[in-house]
Formats: sequence, structure tokens, C-alpha cells
Amino acid sequence: MNSVKSSDIRKDIPLLNEIIYLDAASTTPTPEPVINAMVDYYHNFNANTGRGAYKTAVKSTTKFDDARKKIANFINCAKNEVIFTKNTTEAINIVAKGLDLNKGDSIIVPNIEHHSNFLPWLNLKKSGINLRIIKANKFGIIDTFDVEKAIDDSTKLITTTHISNSIGSYQPIYEMGDIAEEKDILYLVDAAQSAGHMKLDVKKIKADFIAFPGHKGLLGPVGTGFLYCRNEVAEYLKPLILGGGTVSNVTEKDYVLEPVPSRFEAGTQNIAGFIGLGAAVDYVKRIGIENIEKYSLNLTRYMYERINDIDNTICYGDPENIHGIVAFNIEGMNSHDVAKILDEIKNICVRSGYHCAIPAIKHVGADALEGTVRASIHCYNNKEEIDIFAETVNEIAKFAGG
Ligand SMILES: Cc1ncc(COP(=O)(O)O)c(C=O)c1O
Repeated sequence: MNSVKSSDIRKDIPLLNEIIYLDAASTTPTPEPVINAMVDYYHNFNANTGRGAYKTAVKSTTKFDDARKKIANFINCAKNEVIFTKNTTEAINIVAKGLDLNKGDSIIVPNIEHHSNFLPWLNLKKSGINLRIIKANKFGIIDTFDVEKAIDDSTKLITTTHISNSIGSYQPIYEMGDIAEEKDILYLVDAAQSAGHMKLDVKKIKADFIAFPGHKGLLGPVGTGFLYCRNEVAEYLKPLILGGGTVSNVTEKDYVLEPVPSRFEAGTQNIAGFIGLGAAVDYVKRIGIENIEKYSLNLTRYMYERINDIDNTICYGDPENIHGIVAFNIEGMNSHDVAKILDEIKNICVRSGYHCAIPAIKHVGADALEGTVRASIHCYNNKEEIDIFAETVNEIAKFAGG
């Protein structure tokens, strides 16, 4: 396919006949082929992985392993550089809790992060680690000059989101990768809002760690995510949880860790979920990630213009630098009220509030209205939905203004 045909994708997601779903940034509805791959597991080879020698268990292990290969191939890394997690948050915590940091070390983090890429670092302050917080501009964009200025001998890690979940702003992750490489500093990217929305080649990003959700842009099931962890640095990370599957030998005195990634994947995994995620990667590849990127960018800009043209709306972010997300408010109206009315009168699903990013919402000055209304899209959305959405916002704004 050389362009996105949202009508074809919608046939795989019957839920979209019932509602206008504009909340891809939270999680995405699961297409039928992904559900079918999980059902296939439950019906035909429902056994644990990496344990049994019987045929059904071998099949389950092979399919699970295939999913990892598909994901690795999709982001251009080795299979063992993909560590399965339950979500993006867990992936980031594996790094924050696993790094051997010392009192006096410092970490560079922007002020517009999702709490999942802020709290794990903030928590390290209790161990004497310093946070150097970089202030974004009024559109929620980080300046690499500020990152460079914040670096000194104590800097051990730079982290940033790729696309802000609260503003939709796109960060200069490639330039930050060059800086981290030149200064020999570890680099973590939170790709929660870009994975599955645009091409991500881990070699080009030059990150040591990239945290991915399976359940958002990649169209995989909830309960899936993964951490890309560059082979050369994986050895320095302490596993967060120990138990079955993480060790190759145990005595009463000590244990030997399994190679990566097994040492990070303790206990029985979300087998059906990751098999589903493998099918989701196939699905996204069939549509074409470049097609999705172009389609969503156009639709995002269209949505921004439609909402921004309405009297009494405040749109956040720079329309030339947002992807997939339009955050806005209606003057004088609480963001939750707007979201509730959209749902009540037209079954439009948007998120409202602080979006798990309180510092970011304060940064753009949307605190007084208890956050923002956030509409977020994927390739299954279409222009007709955006028109209905904009017309409904217009009605609400007229009512609020009058
Ligand atoms: C930028 C960003 N980081 C992290 C997260 C946390 O993701 P998860 O729910 O997969 O843990 C989100 C979720 O919305 C996000 O948008």
C-alpha cells in the first residue's frame, strides 16, 4: 500500500463504528488480525515459553521468539536488545533503577516529560543524584543549546521524550543523540508517542535506551511494551526483578544471571500479548510506517487548524512542530467538562486533565482550567471525524462564550 486507506483499517476495528476515538495517545483500539493472533495462541498452543520440551511448549516459545525478531527488525536492532515489559513506564524504571549511579552524579531531563519519564529520575534525588531540568520554550520544545549548557563531568544520562504527550511537540532527539555520543553520556528516549507513528531506527537515534509502548501507536494489545537496550550497555544494568527465567545457575550462596534479555524478564511473560504485538508490527508494516507518518501529520495539522479557527479556543504547541496530538482549551471552561460534553453529545472520546504531566501543563499555563483537552489520532481516523469533532467543539465554545 503506498497510502493510508483508513476505511480499510476501520474494517478491522469495529469499535470505530460506535465512537469517534481521538485518544490514541492513551492507548489504541486493537485491530482484528492482532486479536486473532492472540486467540490462535489460546486455542492452539497455550503453553508457557522457554520451559517445556513438549511440542506445544516449543511452538509457543517459537512464536514468542518470532515476535521479538519482528520487533527487533522493525526498529533495526539485534533480537537480544529487545526486553519485553508491560508498558513504557516499566521500561524506563528498568533503566532508572538498574543503573549504577552514585551520589553527586547528574541526569538531564526536560520539564515537559510524562510522569513516567520524570518520577523515576526525581526519585533518584533521594540517593543524592542531581536533576538538571531543562525548560522547554512556550511551544514545549527543548533547545539543544540548553542541553549542552547543562552538561558537566557529573552528567551520566540525558533523557527526553520524543513527542510530548501533553503538547504533541516534537523534540530534537537526533541532535541530542549526537551530543550524548560526543560527550560519552548515556541517552534514553521515551518513544511512547512516536512508536508506530513514524519510522524509528535505533541506530540513527543513537540512544542507549528507548522505551516503547506496545499498546499505543504500534496497535498492539494493552499490557505490552519493551525496552531497547544497546548491547554494550546492557551488562551494566542490574535487573529490577529476579526469579524464574533470569538465572542460568544457582547455589545456596549465589547465582549467575542469564544473558540479556532473559535476565530482565522474570517469571511467566504476557505470551499472548507479545504474540499479538508481533502481529501488530506486521500490521503496521503492511500499511507502511512512512505512509502512517505522512497521513497522521496532515490530519494533525488539519485538526489543529480547525480547532484553532474556532472563537474562544486556545491551542497549545506550534502547528509546525506537533505530531498526532492537538491540545487545547475553550476559554473559561474546565477541560473535563468539555471532554464530557463531547462524549455525551457525539460519542467523541478525548482525554482531559493533566495527562500525567503536571509540570508540562503548568509550563504551558493550562493549570487554571485543570489541564487541557487532548485529541490524539492514528491512521484509522479520518477527516470526516475531525470535522464532526471541530463542529461539536464550535457548538460548545459558542455556548461557553454566549
Ligand atoms: C510520553 C509518555 N511516556 C510514558 C508514558 C507511559 O506509558 P505506559 O502507559 O505505556 O507506561 C506515556 C503514556 O501516555 C507517554 O505518553
